[in-house]
Amino acid sequence: MHHFSYSGHDLHCESVDLAAIAKLYGTPTYVYSAATMADNFHRLQRNLGGLDLQICYAMKANSNLAVLRHFANLGAGFDLVSGGELRRVLAAGANVRTSVFAGVGKTEGEIKLALENDIYAFHVESEPELARINHVAGQLGVKAPIAIRINPDVDANTHAKITTGKSGNKFGIPLKHAAAAYEAAAKLKNLRIRGVQMHIGSQITEVGPFVEAVKKVAPFVAELKAAYAIEYFSIGGGLGIVYQDALASGSAAWWDAQPADRRPLTPEAYGAELTPLLAPLGLKVLLEHGRFMVGNAGVLLARVEHLKRGAGKNFLIVDAAMNDLVRPAMYESFHEIVPVHRDSSRRALVADIVGPICESGDCFAKDRKIQEVGEGELVAFLSAGAYGYVMASRYNTRGMPAEVLVNGSAFELVNARETFEQMTAGEKIPAFLQ
Ligand code: LLP
Repeated sequence: MHHFSYSGHDLHCESVDLAAIAKLYGTPTYVYSAATMADNFHRLQRNLGGLDLQICYAMKANSNLAVLRHFANLGAGFDLVSGGELRRVLAAGANVRTSVFAGVGKTEGEIKLALENDIYAFHVESEPELARINHVAGQLGVKAPIAIRINPDVDANTHAKITTGKSGNKFGIPLKHAAAAYEAAAKLKNLRIRGVQMHIGSQITEVGPFVEAVKKVAPFVAELKAAYAIEYFSIGGGLGIVYQDALASGSAAWWDAQPADRRPLTPEAYGAELTPLLAPLGLKVLLEHGRFMVGNAGVLLARVEHLKRGAGKNFLIVDAAMNDLVRPAMYESFHEIVPVHRDSSRRALVADIVGPICESGDCFAKDRKIQEVGEGELVAFLSAGAYGYVMASRYNTRGMPAEVLVNGSAFELVNARETFEQMTAGEKIPAFLQ
């Protein structure tokens, strides 16, 4: 469910006409719905309500400071993966004390920064990393809280680039070696064992892999509780969202109409299956969802440059490109693309929807059916709130897009479009070329 829908002929985010945002701030621009984010957060919280729960929003999905503050206000901590992300949490006026630090290659500097800011725990991926954290904690004269990431070797049935819980991935420690890793951690005097973690992948749309992973790891978690008095179990993130029917999935009616065996995973089903497995452990449960929290809460607005009619092929050339939204080029992922002004008298068009970048990979959709739209008209790429702006680049010296946050009938620019001067500020011509 989300808050993007047509009011009359015009696509709105909550009560705001997207055309008004494009008029004020130009395109390409990401637009986020604060209400959708809050709904997603509350749904997740409510459906695992029987547990001692801490949601650590995986901020890699969307780390705009306004988005972070919004989640912090709702009561979220953060799952962060770099010193830069940690500094974003601070800059948003949020708390590192309820946040966890993940990733396979944390630097000494990043570990120090996290310890100085009272990180709730490090999620550790290897024994060399345990030694490094122990070393930095020793230098600071503190005990570093840690949890070891277990790789449960479960197939998440998702895209190869975003599955993480199989034994061939670079992530975590296999279950059969995990006891030894905890024994090693217990011997390091500057570490404090606080919990255990796992994460099996992203964009998971069925509950089975989550259930399988929790069932597989739960007996070991119980052993850890007995041996080390751990206080939490993080089951990671990964809850998928609807891409194909993104617009329709905004309404409860669409969900009700889906046959039970084809209904994409909901927080209701996720909570109903997992709560009974987690409750008996008697531990705090951490969730690290990113995509679910923000994915359907954002669109990318773009303007049509040209409709190029070719021999047997049409190209709709828009002013957004793979540098603004890389997911289709990188993962062959599907984003629904809709006109901002809907006009049922127009003919349908079948076209490749592409950006202006000089390579064929700059293609958002092949042979996509869309209402005929012409130069200057607006389109919206749906389900772009997660892994959109954060994965954008400056390829072709295209500045980073703008970001706008909507709240009811109010909206504000929360990140200005990047200027040429900002883009080139760190560059210079060396003396030997002058
Ligand atoms: N926890 C850990 C340890 C993770 O590695 C990730 C995501 C998450 C939580 C959050 O997963 P989520 O709830 O968002 O599925 N760029 C890709 C997705 C990469 C996900 C990486 N790890 C995409 O655009 O699909």
